[in-house]
Amino acid sequence: MVGGAAVITGTFGLIGGFVIGSAWERLHRYRRRKSGVVAPSSTAVESVQPRLKLVSADVPKPSLARMSHSRTFKPAIGDGMTQDLWNSVDDYFSKMLLPPDAALDLAIASSTEAGLPAIQVSANQGKQLEMLARMQKAHFILEIGTLGGYSTIWMARALAPGGRLITLESDPKHADVARTNIERAGFGDVVEVRTGLALDTLPLIAAENAGPFDMIFIDADKENIPGYFKWALELSRPGSLIVVDNVVREGAVIDAASDDLRVQGVRRLMDYLSREPRVTATAIQTVGTKGYDGFVMAIVKSEDSKQ
Ligand code: SAH
Ligand code: DHB
Ligand code: MG
Repeated sequence: MVGGAAVITGTFGLIGGFVIGSAWERLHRYRRRKSGVVAPSSTAVESVQPRLKLVSADVPKPSLARMSHSRTFKPAIGDGMTQDLWNSVDDYFSKMLLPPDAALDLAIASSTEAGLPAIQVSANQGKQLEMLARMQKAHFILEIGTLGGYSTIWMARALAPGGRLITLESDPKHADVARTNIERAGFGDVVEVRTGLALDTLPLIAAENAGPFDMIFIDADKENIPGYFKWALELSRPGSLIVVDNVVREGAVIDAASDDLRVQGVRRLMDYLSREPRVTATAIQTVGTKGYDGFVMAIVKSEDSKQ
């Protein structure tokens, strides 16, 4: 066994339960505001008893940025596949694989302080984005949807020397919080946060010839995902990687009759991808602190590609 004893308990007394609870509350207030759907009350959620909890004596205390700061969706599957188990496993991998990180912790803390919704990627997903950017040997990265700059900081860490990252955010308050976080993380000189609706700022970026970008992360409003993807393709080169967050939506993606515009945004992307010969793509379902969700990953093909 790695990192100490694992014991099975039946309680919900997670380390940092207070933080988890408040993040959960804030997320659901935000989601209720956005969708008009009444989310389950936190009392109901907190009374759910996990079957298994890992308690490790020797692993480092989890930092804020690596904890279950967000539970986007309630669990869709029974038989032990619960949100609590996904959180515990996500936290376990964070503790074992992600070193304590003051800049990311501060980014989360100041975003919380400023009242931003806790909808950033999880720590393990952030690390995945960083690794993808490294695999791309990315010099130029574009992000659509900044929030407090959490995913931005992860990706900026992978930038090749001399590289730059542009991130687009419509909410001036989010952009302000992000700029402070990004500066404090040491990326003030290489990251630019542009305020404005992304469908307005993307044509400006194209007009400036800022691309082509080696990696593009699409994570803003879901209704406009197809439009963002088309711009991403415009701003790409053969070999560019385009990643789209939140494409599974607790399985709702397969509901053709859904009246949720975010689901329909993802479905229109899928229709488009099924017909677009210039990219080759896959979709990955994920579980973890962000619930049951997933990413689309697409690579821009070269002219002579046989794929
Ligand atoms: N990528 C971030 C999370 C982004 S949340 C992270 O993982 O850390 C989505 C963000 O997109 C929010 O901050 C929201 O304000 C922003 N957004 C929503 N609509 C937008 C639009 N039309 N143009 C640009 N940003 C938008
Ligand atoms: C929401 C947005 C996200 O990008 C995400 O990862 C989770 C939730 C939202 O708008 O609710
Ligand atoms: Mg997202």
